Amino acid sequence: MNSLTKDAQKAAERVGLTADRIVIHGGKPLRGRVDVRGAKNLATKAMVAALLADTPSVLRDVPDISDVGVVTGMLGAYGVSVREIGPGELRLDPSEVLKAHFAQIDALAGSSRIPILFCGPLLHRLGEALIPDLGGCRIGDRPINFHLDALRGFGAVVDKSYEGIRLTAPSGLHGANIELPYPSVGATEQVLLTGVLARGTTELRNAAIEPEIMDLIAVLQKMGAIITVEPNRVIFIEGVEKLEGYNHRALFDRNEAASWASAALATGGDIFVAGARQQELTTFLNIFRKVGGAFDIHEDGIRFTHPGGTLKPVEVETDVHPGFMTDWQQPLIVALTQAQGRSVVHETVYENRFGFTDALIDMGADIVVHSGGLDSPTRRVARRPLEQSAVINGPTKLHGADVEIPDLRGGFSHLIAALTADGTSTVTNIGIISRGYEHFIGKLAGLGADFEYEG
Ligand code: EPU
Repeated sequence: MNSLTKDAQKAAERVGLTADRIVIHGGKPLRGRVDVRGAKNLATKAMVAALLADTPSVLRDVPDISDVGVVTGMLGAYGVSVREIGPGELRLDPSEVLKAHFAQIDALAGSSRIPILFCGPLLHRLGEALIPDLGGCRIGDRPINFHLDALRGFGAVVDKSYEGIRLTAPSGLHGANIELPYPSVGATEQVLLTGVLARGTTELRNAAIEPEIMDLIAVLQKMGAIITVEPNRVIFIEGVEKLEGYNHRALFDRNEAASWASAALATGGDIFVAGARQQELTTFLNIFRKVGGAFDIHEDGIRFTHPGGTLKPVEVETDVHPGFMTDWQQPLIVALTQAQGRSVVHETVYENRFGFTDALIDMGADIVVHSGGLDSPTRRVARRPLEQSAVINGPTKLHGADVEIPDLRGGFSHLIAALTADGTSTVTNIGIISRGYEHFIGKLAGLGADFEYEG
């Protein structure tokens, strides 16, 4: 068993999935309703923020996914009690924060990247933080240099130890002047979670401004933080002495919503995504419409349909917000295999995010990945050395195949491809999906998918 499969199994067990595989009989449109709850990429960070307070916090709409399980375990190791007080409602009590044993953190952190965000809060609360080897999806090198440089800017001392990386703050943390080399989501969150309790003012330039970051700022403001978002990716943080617990409902998961939208388009279906909102999805909705998909915006969600007729090819560049998210390209590419003509997707955020296309090619897709990227007269995003481009020629009939899920978003696209394909597919390593898609087995059943889950 390789380590990927072990991570997938651990992830699956955390949310009660018992099997590693699903056998899908594809070729039928997905129709019905799915409910999307709070965003993985907000809820997990808001949970870490609870560590900064003196009093308990309540977070609502928390999805039942294994990454939430990882953060719950990590918080537990540091003495923060996390209790489910209602469906998707967590009470996080940080009044007894204590040092954790390295073995406990190491065992948990293996399957997530969130532990890096504990650094600032732990330095404030305990004067020390240990980071083990980080997990998360294998979609590139995913370094932590921006995080460590920012923490050094706040006055942290970083030492490599045999256990991982050890951070201390002998003179406490002070405000910092930080410019990120790239608007990294995680590094921006690191600066927010550290700057709020640092002495003095922090100026962050070239910050990420994803909606999940704006929601984290809302959480921190509820706690008593003073944060100003200026134009041109500048964020000011005025450090305060102490923070209180918050009561917050997590922003909906844009990535899950876009995944189900693409599933509706690829399978020729009709899915109402309850909880999805237009504002955070405008860039996705533009591309969805250009491909030939239809959507209706409702008060309580968005209905995504394949309106019939031919789908059209598009050229898309992934980018930081407000661009087209890197997490949206994998499910969209499955729909693009059904479009009439040549689509091009440029991945500019991560250096290795097209590995999932191998399985689509095995299923009959015509996709060529250019590892050095491709120039284009219409591009908007500056060329980055790490980027790659995928050229998708369609339409191609997909047929069933045996595929092993490589990562979260790529894995969901494999499920969509198997549902689109004629015939039977066996998809293994499905535990990975539970890291970010709540109750996906039940949701697939509710949408009329024909499958056997070997649980
Ligand atoms: N980067 C560095 N050094 C750093 C940090 C980042 O070089 O210290 C680079 C990365 O290698 C990458 C780029 O900066 O090339 C952007 O990475 P970013 O820090 O923005 O990503 P992240 O915070 O690690 C979060 C989400 C990802 C999502 C990206 C982009 C979480 C837990 N993860 O990752 O979500 O793709 O932002 O929006 O919030 C997913 O949900 O499946 C997922 C991978």
